Amino acid sequence: MQMPEKYLPRDASEIDFDTLRQHATDAMRKAYAPYSKFNVGAAAYVDDGRIIAGCNVENASYGVGLCAECALVGALHMSGGGKIVAFTCVDGHGNILMPCGRCRQLLWENSLPDMIMETVSGIKRLHDVLPDAFGPADLEERA
Ligand code: THU
Repeated sequence: MQMPEKYLPRDASEIDFDTLRQHATDAMRKAYAPYSKFNVGAAAYVDDGRIIAGCNVENASYGVGLCAECALVGALHMSGGGKIVAFTCVDGHGNILMPCGRCRQLLWENSLPDMIMETVSGIKRLHDVLPDAFGPADLEERA
């Protein structure tokens, strides 16, 4: 079997964010958000070039609802793993939405640290929105 090429964009100009936002918007339309009525969709490029997406899935037990990023990370592992290299997230109007704090942590463990993301204040790197992140290395180094 031929292994996929590595896809490691150096900056945002190498990323088709229009396509990524379209995938996020399509995912957002599948959201199950009857409680908040706040649909969210997320999409990402993986380091082999494939696109993954996810929507939020709420629950009658409000506190256990899943953000779109949770479904996205599930899709990452279910479709072959790898690391996220570019990410976008949209609200119910298709406008860019920031990942919540918990989901920034979730993205951290499943992305390259300099993963490129669309934010409400322009293109940023994941380490810009989660500085000095706690991660798997801390567990090993401080054990
Ligand atoms: N939500 C996400 O899916 N991702 C985020 O990063 C922010 C919040 C969802 C969770 C909940 O279903 C709804 O938005 C309202 O908070």
